[in-house]
Amino acid sequence: MARRPGPLEGLVGVEGGCPLRVLITGADGYIGSVLAPLLIARGHDVAGLDTGYFRDASLGASTDPAFPTLDKDLRRVTRDDMAGFDAVVHLAGLSNDALGQISRRVTYDVNHTGSVRLASLARDAGVPRFVYSSSCSVYGRSDRDVVDEQSPTDPQTDYAVCKVLDEREITDLATGAFSPTFLRNATAYGASPRMRFDLVVNDLAAAARTTGRIAMRSDGTPWRPIVHVLDICEAFAATLEAPRERIHNQVINVGRNDDNHQIRDIATCLAEVFPGCATSFGAADPDQRSYRVNFDRIGTVLPGFRCRWSLRPGAEQLRDFYEQVSLTAETYGFRAFTRQRQLRYLLDTGQIDEDFYWTGPGRR
Ligand SMILES: NC(=O)c1ccc[n+]([C@@H]2O[C@H](COP(=O)([O-])OP(=O)(O)OC[C@H]3O[C@@H](n4cnc5c(N)ncnc54)[C@H](O)[C@@H]3O)[C@@H](O)[C@H]2O)c1
Repeated sequence: MARRPGPLEGLVGVEGGCPLRVLITGADGYIGSVLAPLLIARGHDVAGLDTGYFRDASLGASTDPAFPTLDKDLRRVTRDDMAGFDAVVHLAGLSNDALGQISRRVTYDVNHTGSVRLASLARDAGVPRFVYSSSCSVYGRSDRDVVDEQSPTDPQTDYAVCKVLDEREITDLATGAFSPTFLRNATAYGASPRMRFDLVVNDLAAAARTTGRIAMRSDGTPWRPIVHVLDICEAFAATLEAPRERIHNQVINVGRNDDNHQIRDIATCLAEVFPGCATSFGAADPDQRSYRVNFDRIGTVLPGFRCRWSLRPGAEQLRDFYEQVSLTAETYGFRAFTRQRQLRYLLDTGQIDEDFYWTGPGRR
């Protein structure tokens, strides 16, 4: 059985012993709330920026930021907000394939126009590194057996189209003084204080715990690459700490070759890890996204990096995490852990307007 890594095992420390001043956009999100403490533990000086759509809920560890956070919409960021940073890690956005269904227009406005503008401001402010959180969903429904960074993209959703457009336009901003890097993350899973139950492994594991059943409406045949949230965060850290010439304008898939799974195999693994859990499958899924991804390149560009987690120990971590926080069906069903539901709630209650700006006083 695969061994579970310790929380900070394998960290290599700050490159050249020099801490970086890092601005994390989306610091309050699923990945950001794991990344910020990880970078702080490595000696970096972290600041966050987030508009706070999902602050209604957290799970487990305290989410009180031990670092300064600017409460601001990324569409309203100014050049001065970016000044003085050595790097921006850009995580903020309407962050999953389904969110485009609420508003296509706002998805493009935030994820595409807002992201390219942010990169451009970072460059103008003299920030040398810009690490963009892209996604393996740019590969979409691929007819090829296994896709890699050289393969054509085939985005199937507005979310994924924005990722492709952002990569294309931000790459054009690269100069000798501005180095963007594009990390195409597999679908994340694993414990985070800002838990998301709209991610397949987290969701199925929560169903296993709270209902004792994984009842899939689909047949579970599509392939998805998955990656533990801690491995994503270590990939961001390794990118920040790598010599600039190594990561300048590079596209890198983040994940591991043996964590491409058919969703039904993920369900089966979880049913083994959660005692007494039953599984059932439905008909073929109308969601045709299916792809297997090759992750060889990350080990070449970032030689110190390798994913330390894989599905089985990651599933066991989720089981233990859900036990530790006493996850109930009520918590699993709470809107703020599922992005589409939380944004619909904020819209329906008038807390954000049709452009997804906060309506209340003092919110930016
Ligand atoms: N989680 C995954 O499986 C995964 C996989 C591949 C890529 N990514 C990418 O990584 C990034 C982070 O993902 P995540 O899972 O942490 O997402 P998340 O939704 O948990 O966090 C995103 C954060 O961005 C903030 N935000 C949204 N719109 C904003 C705006 N206009 N201005 C300021 N802040 C705003 C939200 O409040 C939230 O805290 C995203 O770009 C996502 O597309 C995620």
